Amino acid sequence: MPQMTVEGVGTFEVPTGKRVVLALSDECGIDQLHACGGFGRCTTCRVTMISGEPEKLTKAERDVLTAKGLLSTAGLRLSCQMTCENDMTFRAESRLAGSGRADCGRRPSDELEPKPVEFVQRV
Ligand code: FES
Repeated sequence: MPQMTVEGVGTFEVPTGKRVVLALSDECGIDQLHACGGFGRCTTCRVTMISGEPEKLTKAERDVLTAKGLLSTAGLRLSCQMTCENDMTFRAESRLAGSGRADCGRRPSDELEPKPVEFVQRV
């Protein structure tokens, strides 16, 4: 099983293929935001990747990061648009604590959304 390290929190074994946003909540136990429910629209599930960043991203991720002017921000990725395929290290900065929100958002489904999932290159 891959290992997920969250800076300042710890290192955790995570199931292969699990959505990163769910692993952050379930295995790592952090209050990761996911306001749109994992549909690649809100960017509240963003993390900063320190290592293990996947080369490809979903079209939904690329589109929303482009629309918000975030695509060129080094290491910034949407945890709802990635799955656990290899060891990864993150900085998790978009969390419920201090956000002023009532909750983290509706729990994302177990599978990547929106469907159909299309993987694209960053540029
Ligand atoms: S973009 Fe909204 S939860 Fe990922």
